[in-house]
Parts: sequence; structure tokens; C-alpha cells
Amino acid sequence: MKQILRNLFTLAFLLSVSSMSAAAESEREPFDDRYCTTCHGADGRGNEGVQAPRLAGMEDWYLVRQLENFRAGIRGTHPKDIEGIAMQPMAVKLTDESIADIVQWVGGWTYIPAEITVEGDEARGQQLYTACAACHGQQAEGNEALGAPALAGQNDWYLVTQLKNFMADYRGHHPDDSFGQQMRTMSKTLVDESGIHNVVSYINTLAER
Ligand code: HEC
Ligand code: HEC
Repeated sequence: MKQILRNLFTLAFLLSVSSMSAAAESEREPFDDRYCTTCHGADGRGNEGVQAPRLAGMEDWYLVRQLENFRAGIRGTHPKDIEGIAMQPMAVKLTDESIADIVQWVGGWTYIPAEITVEGDEARGQQLYTACAACHGQQAEGNEALGAPALAGQNDWYLVTQLKNFMADYRGHHPDDSFGQQMRTMSKTLVDESGIHNVVSYINTLAER
């Protein structure tokens, strides 16, 4: 009988220790995950030097999907996707709780208009954009139902890199990346780099200034 009681005590002790450490971890969590600004900029405005785009103003659902895709290796694992490879390990240790915490944190940042760095033929870009509007919206405001994010207001250099990566099949190559695959197909309508610059210069005209 004594032996059984002792075993029960041991069990109760072990259980209480493990629940204590779980509680300590969840209290620490929000602070552990807030290393994003090192690359994405203190105000989440983006940092061209390390090619990390603007996060301030990003839609919740799009932010969550990209973090989940990076975490699962659905994005940022193609050997030639240099920028994606820089981001992918940053998402690996995120839990669902910390992703929810990040969404709330990023939601509190103020949107500051992105600087224009890309020049192109806006009129040609407008023609090309008619194919994009079906999913991304007339004002490039995004469409949650179709899974297509806002493009207006994003750093233009980042839009250029993504379009190049989709066109070269570096992004949207993973079999589980159904949204990326749709976009990879669409990127081919821009034909070449001048098409990319033209459409991005038109998207720049749609952003709030
Ligand atoms: C080491 C630098 C670095 C750190 C730290 C970092 N990122 Fe990134 N992140 C990048 C780069 C570079 C890209 C661009 C990837 C690409 O071009 O595909 C990126 C892309 C992203 C994207 C995709 C944006 C889009 O429009 O598709 C999201 C979302 C993101 N990061 C969120 C975060 C969050 C949240 C954190 C903190 C948990 C974080 N990042 C930490 C470098 C970083
Ligand atoms: C069939 C719908 C559809 C069409 C048409 C479309 N897109 Fe997309 N686009 C998407 C989806 C869905 C995503 C999100 C992919 C993901 O989740 O990784 C996306 C992502 C993007 C991204 C990456 C944004 C970011 O923050 O990483 C860019 C840039 C982009 N699209 C530009 C364009 C341009 C320019 C056109 C016109 C040539 C276009 N898209 C046409 C559905 C579409």
C-alpha cells in the first residue's frame, strides 16, 4: 500500500512539474517570437538591404498562410529561392500560438507608404494588369475569397522579386502550394522582365500616398 502511495505521489509531482514548465513557456512565448523586426524593419516597413518586405498593413489571413507555408517548407525551400531560404528557418520554430501572437502584434503597426524604386511603362503595365485584377482586385486591394493578397502598398522591389521567382518556378513549385501554383501560372502572362517592371510600375500608381 505504501509503495502504491509513493508511486502516486511521484506521478502527481511529475505531472505538476510538467504543467508548470508548460505554463512558463506560454508566458515567455510572445517575447521569444519577436525577432522579425531585425530583418523586416522596426516599424515593419520592409528592408531592401536584406530583401525582407513590408509586413505592416498585411492581411491577417495572408500573413498566417505564408508563415504556415514557410514553417512546413512549402515556401522557401527551392535551392535557387535565395530570399525565401533566408526567411524559411525563421518560421520553423513558430507554434500556432506564436503565429496568432505575431498576427496581433503586426496588426498594431502603422502603415507607412512604401518608397517607389521601380520604373516602367505604366500604360503597358495597366494593360497587363487587367489579367491580374480578376484575383487581386481593380485597385490591387486583394481578395480573401480567392486567396490573392493586396499588392498596392507592398514594396515594389519585393513585388519584382516575387514575380521573377514565380516566373522561374522558384516560388509555387511545391506540390502542396496550390495558391502559389496558380500564381506561378499567371506570372507567365508577363512574358519577361520588362513586363514585370511595367506591371509593378502600374501597381505603384494604385497605392495610397
Ligand atoms: C533573417 C531575416 C529575417 C527574419 C529574422 C524574418 N524574416 Fe520574414 N522574410 C525575410 C525575407 C528575406 C523575406 C522575403 C522572402 C522571399 O523573397 O520570398 C521574408 C518574407 C516574409 C513573409 C512573406 C511576405 C509576403 O508578402 O509574402 C512574411 C509573412 C514574413 N517574412 C514574416 C516574418 C515574421 C513574422 C518574422 C518573425 C517571426 C520574420 N519574417 C522574420 C527575412 C526575414
Ligand atoms: C487566378 C488568380 C490570380 C491571378 C489572375 C493573379 N494572381 Fe497573383 N497571386 C494569387 C494568389 C492566390 C497569390 C498568393 C500565393 C501564395 O499564397 O503564396 C498571389 C500572389 C502574388 C504575388 C506575391 C505577393 C506577396 O506578397 O508575396 C504577386 C507579386 C502577385 N501575385 C502578382 C500578380 C500579378 C502582377 C498578376 C497579373 C499578371 C497576378 N498576380 C495574377 C492569385 C492570382
